[in-house]
Amino acid sequence: MCLSIFLLWLVSIPLFAHSSPAPRGFLIDCGASEESSSGSLKYILDDGFISVGNKTAIKTPNVLPELTTLRYFPDKSARKYCYVIPVIKGGKYLVKTTYFYGGFDGGKEPPVFDQIVDGTKWSPVNTTEDYANGLSSYYEIYVAALGKTLSICLARTEHTVSDPFISVLEVEYLDDSVYNTNDFKKHALSTVARSSFGDSEDIIRYPDDEFNRFWQPFMSENPVVKSQSKVDTSDFWNLPPANAFATAITTSRGKTLKVQWPPVSLPSSIYYISLYFQDNRSPSPYSWRVFDVSINGKKFYSELNVTTSGVTVYATQWPLSGQTEISLTPGDGIPVGPLINAGEVLQILPLAGRTLTRDVMAMEELARSLNNPPSDWNGDPCLPQQHSWTGVTCSRGKLARVITLNLTNAGLSGSLPPSISNLTALKNLWLGGNELSGTIPKMASLKALQTLHLENNKFEGSLPESLGQLPNLREILLQNNKLNGSIPDALQDKNGINLQVSPGNDWSESR
Ligand SMILES: *[C@@H]1O[C@H](CO)[C@@H](O)[C@H](O)[C@H]1NC(C)=O
Ligand SMILES: *[C@@H]1O[C@H](CO)[C@@H](O)[C@H](O)[C@H]1NC(C)=O
Ligand SMILES: *[C@@H]1O[C@H](CO)[C@@H](O)[C@H](O)[C@H]1NC(C)=O
Ligand SMILES: *[C@@H]1O[C@H](CO)[C@@H](O)[C@H](O)[C@H]1NC(C)=O
Ligand SMILES: *[C@@H]1O[C@H](CO)[C@@H](O)[C@H](O)[C@H]1NC(C)=O
Ligand SMILES: *[C@@H]1O[C@H](CO)[C@@H](O)[C@H](O)[C@H]1NC(C)=O
Repeated sequence: MCLSIFLLWLVSIPLFAHSSPAPRGFLIDCGASEESSSGSLKYILDDGFISVGNKTAIKTPNVLPELTTLRYFPDKSARKYCYVIPVIKGGKYLVKTTYFYGGFDGGKEPPVFDQIVDGTKWSPVNTTEDYANGLSSYYEIYVAALGKTLSICLARTEHTVSDPFISVLEVEYLDDSVYNTNDFKKHALSTVARSSFGDSEDIIRYPDDEFNRFWQPFMSENPVVKSQSKVDTSDFWNLPPANAFATAITTSRGKTLKVQWPPVSLPSSIYYISLYFQDNRSPSPYSWRVFDVSINGKKFYSELNVTTSGVTVYATQWPLSGQTEISLTPGDGIPVGPLINAGEVLQILPLAGRTLTRDVMAMEELARSLNNPPSDWNGDPCLPQQHSWTGVTCSRGKLARVITLNLTNAGLSGSLPPSISNLTALKNLWLGGNELSGTIPKMASLKALQTLHLENNKFEGSLPESLGQLPNLREILLQNNKLNGSIPDALQDKNGINLQVSPGNDWSESR
């Protein structure tokens, strides 16, 4: 369960001076035929990152340039539709997806579907309510790259009626310090709320925020104060934009400031919370803003001494459920009321595990060796469990392994690469009834292999001797190929083996 945070599509984008370097990564305008710009951000085409789906444009007037096109996915047989983005292994990334339906398919309601990041189901995408209100929806997640690519996929669910689609995909490299208390090997962080308190202006984003994170204005019935001095945020771990400290909400001296924030009811889960404070007054050696911070009545931080240089306090794992209330209670005799400038709440999302890298590489090599692999052969081959590649069945456990590969009668052409011998957990290899050609590679290391069906293809050349040495092999179907040479003696002599090698083939050299 994750929440989306919402963005007005009719915002005006001022032309910023280039004060921040452009975000490092990819800003992708999905379905676009030419590059687009929003303010000083440039969005590139998505063609190099995905091989499935169709492009289209929407007719809604006055939308942000990057929302005017989208890519949609009509193929109902695919288990997922994946963007694959090159990344730095071990790097930490912000992934942001934006959806604006725009009635692209002539329908009235946007589809509801899932989004997946690598092997983990990230969240459902339901833009119905935003769309009814004329808004786009965006979702944000922070993940570590476990390999050299990161996949972001959409998938149908039982609730998906029309075709899933996506308008914008952003993948940005983050500084080490950002959210670095999270164990990214085990958890991703999914953004629930990021707010600038007492701010009635537009969303704070790039270039104020170098990662183009969005800080939404949040107002309450409390008084607003403006800061008299600018905070230098360069040594704050999460690198918040300096403007996030420009305003705050406060209350009068001696009173507790209570804020219902985030302004939505949260699913019961564990969250990362970071709160930002700055004394808005001119520096003074005589009076300090000191107060206790509590969340839902539980002490979060005692006697926080907020100075004009700003301060952040955070919790790495904090349980929340339903409406959240933040209370700021001044210490005894403190002459000024408490205040708060900004906050972030991110849900901690356990990763679903991953597939053994050697298996992933072998499967990707196989995909490249086929002329027409199934359209969902992108992203993680095994995970999430309901969204493995078509024809691929995997073991469960911390590291998933490929145990069955079954593309019988799938209309495949191409060849079987030597890398297949790296799928050492493989039990069943069924590729009968295709147009596969080339030789049968060595399989000496497939010690778990039980059944091998390569019948009714165009394989040629001789059989690897090593097939006779596979201890668990009990069924081997090779009829109707163009094989020749001899059948290994060890195979012919094996007890109880189901061996079918003809018709077809030329075994004239066999004993
Ligand atoms: C979508 O694209 C595929 C191939 O890329 C094409 O065969 C199909 O006709 C397209 N569908 C539509 C509705 O344009
Ligand atoms: C999507 O959101 C709408 C509006 O909030 C809701 O009525 C609908 O039930 C949701 N659909 C699904 C499948 O969750
Ligand atoms: C608050 O911090 C300032 C500057 O570090 C210090 O001078 C002051 O004594 C502190 N006040 C309290 C009440 O802790
Ligand atoms: C492979 O798929 C076919 C149908 O396409 C099915 O009949 C067969 O049982 C499957 N074999 C394995 C090992 O799953
Ligand atoms: C098997 O995997 C290893 C380690 O990833 C790799 O070095 C080797 O080239 C692979 N073998 C084949 C035949 O692809
Ligand atoms: C087997 O067939 C291949 C071509 O398909 C040919 O090059 C080779 O000489 C043949 N070998 C034997 C032993 O017939």
